[in-house]
Amino acid sequence: MMTDHSWAELEKQQEKSLVELFASDPDRVAKMTIEQSGLRFDVSKTHLDDAILSQFSKLANDMLLGDAKSALFSGAAINITEGRAAEHPAERGNGDVQAVAHARALQERMRGLVEAIDAGFMGDIKHILHIGIGGSALGPKLLVDALGRDGARYDVKVVSNIDGAALTEAVKGMDPHKTIVAVASKTFTTTETLLNATSAMEWMRDGGVADPYAQIVALTAYPDKALEWGVDESRILPFNESVGGRYSLWCSIGFPVALGLGWAVYEELLEGAAAMDRHFRNAPLMENAPTMAAFCDLYYAQIKACETRAVFAYDERLRLLPDYLQQLEMESNGKSVTAQGVPLGRNSAPVTWGGVGTDAQHAVFQLLHQGTHLIPVEFIASKTPGHDYDTAHHETLLVNCFAQGAALMAGQKSDDLARNYAGNRPSTTILMDDVTPSALGALIAFYEHRTFVNAVLLGINPFDQFGVELGKQIAKSIGDTGATGFDPSTTALIAAALGDN
Ligand code: F6P
Repeated sequence: MMTDHSWAELEKQQEKSLVELFASDPDRVAKMTIEQSGLRFDVSKTHLDDAILSQFSKLANDMLLGDAKSALFSGAAINITEGRAAEHPAERGNGDVQAVAHARALQERMRGLVEAIDAGFMGDIKHILHIGIGGSALGPKLLVDALGRDGARYDVKVVSNIDGAALTEAVKGMDPHKTIVAVASKTFTTTETLLNATSAMEWMRDGGVADPYAQIVALTAYPDKALEWGVDESRILPFNESVGGRYSLWCSIGFPVALGLGWAVYEELLEGAAAMDRHFRNAPLMENAPTMAAFCDLYYAQIKACETRAVFAYDERLRLLPDYLQQLEMESNGKSVTAQGVPLGRNSAPVTWGGVGTDAQHAVFQLLHQGTHLIPVEFIASKTPGHDYDTAHHETLLVNCFAQGAALMAGQKSDDLARNYAGNRPSTTILMDDVTPSALGALIAFYEHRTFVNAVLLGINPFDQFGVELGKQIAKSIGDTGATGFDPSTTALIAAALGDN
């Protein structure tokens, strides 16, 4: 196959050290830095050079990346295993005309409810308890945490875990009479979400709320299910089924952003993402931020067999970004078969992990600098601080971020091997002008498209997630029929913790 040839050619490339790459090309930083939407993407501290990039271009051609992009934006059924489109760009105004109009109409419906709530339609509301899990929680949680720090219009809490301790913690300090419970579930069947929602209603009843249903808002692609569950039609905010769960923060799953932070913030977020869509669609491969970042990902995961990639937010506002990216990247591309259902025959997506700087420096960076694993690292920072304290805080934060990238690359020789830093360890840096709604929209859309390019070049369908089903089925069968037919260890654990069940 042509693609095998392209991968074989990539494997043959002679890699230069990072220091050599900079020494041999004075324009390397300019060539390998892309500025877009208030974000500066610097991939110069990676091992990609002209020869490797040219092979990746060939691979992109072999894998018909251009056609795949057109299919994504035209609303073709590219999620072939589930027979549907992946229309998150339409939520940002980029896509098939009808899909865009439909998305807009549903967003206007959400706007109507936001304005009605502001006007007192649901009483004197102070709190939003958003209940969802996975894609129905991670995006809203990240956005509210990142953008709501200067004071949200409503107090927003996000609950996902089925462990009741999470709900207990979230409702502390909430007045049940002044709380909207937003039940967010694309399918409206997810066990965790429906049980948490039921318990939240119990909390309301215990707090003296006569009709908890009157305070429920449902965010779902299956409005009939929400209706059946008891939510009034006027408080159901539907979204298009062709928007995948982990791509759904742009539609009504973003309700706590639209209500909690205000409609203008939500609009700006969409506009930022739309600008990144246009960049992804139109910029040539070598000037295309999501594509270049995906080339880096593929180089390390495929050619250098790196099993993980690390993401460190050097900005407290982005502390939840690694969690968000874990679902986006691992649920999308953690697969062993191609979209055609044949074995992948290559490594799938690496494990995404990370944390915040500078905290992580004092915990996990030892391994990044001197461990035996090669781990590409991504740093994300903002030029503008998210606080008013002494500028020393932000300067020190940024200096530390850049120092880590420099140290990973340059290393430091020592005859004492315990003190030797081998260096030549790759990193990428994303520097934001500021963590604004528009820049964050662009950043998240960048990651979505980067994940998409990774998938296309590997031949994976990034829009299904069959791997999560088996565990759900087994949990259900234990609930339904007890601990029968399991291995002895599982049977013993169930007996020890749950009795005869
Ligand atoms: O179990 C995985 C998953 O289906 C995710 O893909 C999804 O984001 C999450 O569960 C929640 O699903 P839903 O929004 O349908 O409740």
